[in-house]
Amino acid sequence: MMFDQLAAVYDMTGVEFFGPIADGLVDVLQPRPGERLLDLGCGRGAVLSRIAPFVGPALGVDISAEMVGYCRTALVGHDNVRVEVGDAQSTDPAWGVFDAVTASLVLFFLPDPPAALRNWRNLLTPGGRCVISTFGAPGPAWQAIDETFAPFLPPGMLDARTKGPLSPSSPDAAVDALFAAAGFEDVRTVTLPLETRFASVEQWEAFSWTTGQRAMWLAVPESRRAAVRETIFEILRSSPHPDGGYVLSQSVRYTYAGNAGA
Ligand SMILES: C[S@@+](CC[C@H](N)C(=O)[O-])C[C@H]1O[C@@H](n2cnc3c(N)ncnc32)[C@H](O)[C@@H]1O
Repeated sequence: MMFDQLAAVYDMTGVEFFGPIADGLVDVLQPRPGERLLDLGCGRGAVLSRIAPFVGPALGVDISAEMVGYCRTALVGHDNVRVEVGDAQSTDPAWGVFDAVTASLVLFFLPDPPAALRNWRNLLTPGGRCVISTFGAPGPAWQAIDETFAPFLPPGMLDARTKGPLSPSSPDAAVDALFAAAGFEDVRTVTLPLETRFASVEQWEAFSWTTGQRAMWLAVPESRRAAVRETIFEILRSSPHPDGGYVLSQSVRYTYAGNAGA
């Protein structure tokens, strides 16, 4: 499982990426004191570590046992938080009921997002809400990097990134429609820009091996990786940050959805 392999280095390269995205999600959710919260695909705890001080009992669930281990360590001292191995696709009613469900950069990894959203809604109390983050359109440099990998990717992987309502190219309304079809109400998506700074091209490369992009590197034959690396380094050099290093922009979508009141 890819996330077991990269859990030790995930979000550990000093690049500000998953943290700012989690900040945006917490802003949209507006956590309430005492509420019961479920964070699905919690990873190393980007959302949980930010939200734990503001909510009541919280449960983090991730399919990767390695991620769960690191997340538990990150949340030591937050006695209101439990972290368990579990599947965000086939949720378990034994987890309980929640006032809020969050999932940052997770829904597009699941085999059947519409069914997952129906399951998530069933875990929510009346009046509860769900907030997720997904990727919107990449900026031109990030797009060029994606296009450098594209010829090497197997068709299934290409489809997941380029087709369907959760792909970066689909409109916000398509994401909203997924939630509405699952029975959510008051659904709205906001898209915010995210600028990510890399101190060096090497830092970008290290970062890329610690994220979902690792799967793209693995799809490139070893004999071609040096050429791909050089192409991408050139793209980065054409996108300098005013204060040094390089900058890639990527928009992030936050979708808020309510579960109808009693
Ligand atoms: C891009 S990471 C996001 C992690 C965390 N939410 C964050 O913002 O840093 C995606 C996470 O989803 C988890 N994941 C993937 N499929 C899952 C599933 N079916 N059930 C639960 N977690 C899953 C991965 O193990 C990984 O930790």
